[in-house]
Amino acid sequence: MIITIDGPAAAGKGTLASALANKYNFAVFDTGMIYRALGLNMVLNGMDINDEAAAEKEAQMLTFAKMTSLSQNRDFRSDIGSKAASIVSAHPKVRAALLKMQQDFAKNPVFANGQPAQGAIFDGRDTGTVVCPNADVKFFITASTEIRAKRRYDEFIQKGIKADIDQVISDMKARDERDIQRATAPLKPAEDAYILDTSLLGIDEVLQKAMEIVAQHKKMLEK
Ligand code: DC
Repeated sequence: MIITIDGPAAAGKGTLASALANKYNFAVFDTGMIYRALGLNMVLNGMDINDEAAAEKEAQMLTFAKMTSLSQNRDFRSDIGSKAASIVSAHPKVRAALLKMQQDFAKNPVFANGQPAQGAIFDGRDTGTVVCPNADVKFFITASTEIRAKRRYDEFIQKGIKADIDQVISDMKARDERDIQRATAPLKPAEDAYILDTSLLGIDEVLQKAMEIVAQHKKMLEK
């Protein structure tokens, strides 16, 4: 079974992905990691993230092991990593180079230890539209910019990272704008996605609703 969860930053995709993964024992692919790893690697090596040809070359060499190792870097989830990911992900050639890796995972999902999984949950921006257009269940999770920015701000403070709420809001708006406006695989709901707004419902209610939807689809698949 393949489940996709797309939506803007800090909408609650990761929380839903891990709740569903725990319930069904499915593997999770956080596809933002590939763009974060690629962007941050280029920044760390003094490369120009706006150079599409250079980014494409780097994308062709990206492996899960490299992604995992870069994810330990303190800037992987900081503004630096987020901005770099958003910029490299807008290059059509980069997206093309990274598509197979994601689609291979959908065909043969595995856990971090390499063991095969019965299903996969994708978390990203285009996983229901481009990566897995035939996914069994698709979600599009969203929330107002202010609510998402406050969640991100609280995460920074909890981790002891200094942050300014106005800066977090403006960074988030800039990133949303880039992700939505880009020509290739822009952030948008798949036509057959269930849309869940976590600013109207609490995260627990959203989880409950999503679980019910998945349970219904799972029953249908098992018939
Ligand atoms: O989900 P995230 O915040 O870790 O994603 C970081 C950036 O990567 C995001 O701004 C856009 C890009 N991204 C993408 O273009 N497509 C995806 N499937 C996932 C992320």
